[in-house]
Amino acid sequence: MVEDSRISGFYKLSLEERVKKLAEVTGIPIEDLEPLADPGKMDMEILEHMIENVVGSMTVPLGIATNVRINSKDYLVPMAIEEPSVVAAASNAARMTRPYGGFFATDTGPIMIAQIQSINVPAPFEAKLRIIESKDKILELANEQDPILVRFGGGAKDIRVRIIDSSIGPMLITELIVDTRDAMGANAVNTMCEALAPMIEKIGGGKVLLRILSNLAELRLVRVRATFDKELLGGEEVVDAIIAAWAFAEADPYRCATHNKGIMNGIDAVVLATGNDFRAIEAGAHSYAAMGGYSSLTKYEKDNEGNLLGSIEVPMAVGLIGGATKVHPVARLSVRILDVKTAVELGHVIASVGLAQNLAALRALASEGIQRGHMSLHARNVAATAGARGDLVDRVAEILVREKNVKVERAKQILNEFKKG
Ligand code: MEV
Repeated sequence: MVEDSRISGFYKLSLEERVKKLAEVTGIPIEDLEPLADPGKMDMEILEHMIENVVGSMTVPLGIATNVRINSKDYLVPMAIEEPSVVAAASNAARMTRPYGGFFATDTGPIMIAQIQSINVPAPFEAKLRIIESKDKILELANEQDPILVRFGGGAKDIRVRIIDSSIGPMLITELIVDTRDAMGANAVNTMCEALAPMIEKIGGGKVLLRILSNLAELRLVRVRATFDKELLGGEEVVDAIIAAWAFAEADPYRCATHNKGIMNGIDAVVLATGNDFRAIEAGAHSYAAMGGYSSLTKYEKDNEGNLLGSIEVPMAVGLIGGATKVHPVARLSVRILDVKTAVELGHVIASVGLAQNLAALRALASEGIQRGHMSLHARNVAATAGARGDLVDRVAEILVREKNVKVERAKQILNEFKKG
């Protein structure tokens, strides 16, 4: 467990120094962290067997968000993303929650929904009740497909049956509710549904067609709340401006798409770093946001002292076992750095980063705009690339921004001037 995720000046270190610091803070031996900084060392044989027609690999930067504390535990959070500013923004927003204890997360458990579609059902109302009456038999057959999951306390727990209207007439949809424990669960629930198809046909009549999980994982929610310190945010005016920015998203789908996209910047980066399926998470988040008319995944209000209260509620179908999470060396390291013990704990971290990301974007948008922050972060990276270290990173970056000439060549000249004099 990381004792304190607040590592001041982390961004000012060189890449090698950062990896060293990471080893020191997490207690992970530095040799084990090697695949992070040297993707060339990654075993191509592993990648070759992950998908088809492999010809190579594509790397994206992996950064570490600092300052994240959730339910009294500190986390260093690996984020895989090509977009600048995201990691810095998450770290900065997380810092603003620390005076009030960080993030507080709860969940509804790792519960997935899987669907069995029956068409041409002669008497759908009757069929619906017959299927409900056969619940025990259905659950028994489903659970026979995955005794290991059942042994760990998971498995099929319930069913629900709906009749839906469609452009080709009514359909009967049998939904299996499955506790997938620490797995994302796609394989487990799809196997169960396929095994159940003949039974459903026999009980309900008609023809079973699709047997597949739903990414609208409305029973696998994570909820996170945090208090963002008014002073750290920049005062009560900024707090009000953030609330107004959020209200814009709630009122307008054009804005809301971008608002939620900002949330997903944080969410997807941790999902990808841990080898989870970010398309599934995207589908779940946006479809959940659309359930009562497309709206924001986050909410904001003020407490009595004028601090900002932020919260998020989002489906979180991620796992710790199986898939890329278990085979990809960097994903495995990310899980080790996070030190999460269960899939729901991982979900807490991901949703917290989503909230932090959203807060950071709204704060920037509602005050100076995002371009200035982008520019100064870019300038820091350029200064570091030119060889600046420690405090020189900020000093060189400041001059680059002031001169509006953010180039490595100019950074080198400035560095030389500092050295001379
Ligand atoms: C950019 O990737 C994300 C933002 O557009 C999010 C937002 O507008 O809230 C900054």
